[in-house]
Amino acid sequence: MLNGRIKNLKLSSTLALVLKANELREKGKKVISLSVGEPDFPTPDYIKEAGIKAIKNGKTRYTPASGIKELKEALIDIYEKEQSYRFDINEVMVHPGSKFSIFLVANTILSEGDRVLIPLPYWVSYPEIIKFTGAEPVFVNSWNGNEFYYKYEDYEKEIKKGIKLFILSSPSNPTGIIMKKEELKKLLKAAVDYDFYLLIDECYRRIIYDGATYPSPLKVFPEAKERVIVSGSFSKTFAMTGWRIGFTFAPKEIIKYMGVLQSHSTSNPATPSQYAALAALTEEKDEVYKMVGEYQRRRDMAFDLLRKIPKIKITKPEGAFYLFPYLGEAIKGKFNSTYEFTEYLIEKYHVVVVPGEAFGLEGFIRISYAASEDDIKEGILKIAEAING
Ligand SMILES: Cc1ncc(COP(=O)(O)O)c(C=O)c1O
Repeated sequence: MLNGRIKNLKLSSTLALVLKANELREKGKKVISLSVGEPDFPTPDYIKEAGIKAIKNGKTRYTPASGIKELKEALIDIYEKEQSYRFDINEVMVHPGSKFSIFLVANTILSEGDRVLIPLPYWVSYPEIIKFTGAEPVFVNSWNGNEFYYKYEDYEKEIKKGIKLFILSSPSNPTGIIMKKEELKKLLKAAVDYDFYLLIDECYRRIIYDGATYPSPLKVFPEAKERVIVSGSFSKTFAMTGWRIGFTFAPKEIIKYMGVLQSHSTSNPATPSQYAALAALTEEKDEVYKMVGEYQRRRDMAFDLLRKIPKIKITKPEGAFYLFPYLGEAIKGKFNSTYEFTEYLIEKYHVVVVPGEAFGLEGFIRISYAASEDDIKEGILKIAEAING
């Protein structure tokens, strides 16, 4: 007999699409993948070299379970530099990837039956992590019929009913929107007034465009200090997905218990990876900014191409590397769902995108522009053709 909670978890709804794409590749077909959630750039050389040097210098043993002090200090310094707020060393820890940060946060603060507000569309793992703790995800749509926008008033009704946690992905995967300063301030004030935690998933914080500003929660509303948890990652900014390094800033009691749980589960994140991450921060090179410039160029190109497709509605992303257009009107009468449309797109045009259903919203597709310019252009042209059935 299996544990009841594990049986509640959904297998990734995109798995079937990935298998189909692999099958086509094995048959020698050219498949255009606009579905991946990771940079198409290699890890910058200076980071790779730091990892190699760490291994050669014997940094191959256990470290403290919550991460090495040097990396925590570097994280605190850079957060202060960029977000004008200085955390204490007891308020930070390092994990094997930020997905595990979210998992630990959820398991540290949630109890059976707690309500957790998650804006729609969500990053695929949030609901499953929440369900695994025995808490209940509550979804509120961030689509106003024309565009995506994080607006405090949309969430207020559920907040007033009582929630223990609010999970905010900003910049969002899959929409690329950022919660604006005024809305964030209202949300932070509500966190204090209605007594809930705000977990801000900042996995894409440093991938933002057009000089957009990313509001610093504790500068915007310092009174919420005991309510704010920030989760961050090296995966996307530094093209380090496989190194598995993420981190959390949180009130010290939360960090303490997350540390206990990590010490009894994964223990420390891989030691050479921690040294590579340290170099990523302390020896930062232009390459990192160049990647952001390149994503912005591709975003502009993809956005312009998509916008020309009749009946599509699309929000211009301010960060991350995804577009999340609404196709509901365009495919009406031709396909029963966006899932069906994405199946057809692979089958007939060999283009892979992720259906909105995976993010809790039917009628949309997620297009990743962490792909070559040629693939983005060709992929979008084929999407336009496929819409015509
Ligand atoms: C919004 C968001 N949060 C967290 C993660 C987890 O990243 P990692 O575990 O590689 O740090 C991802 C990865 O795709 C993501 O898109």
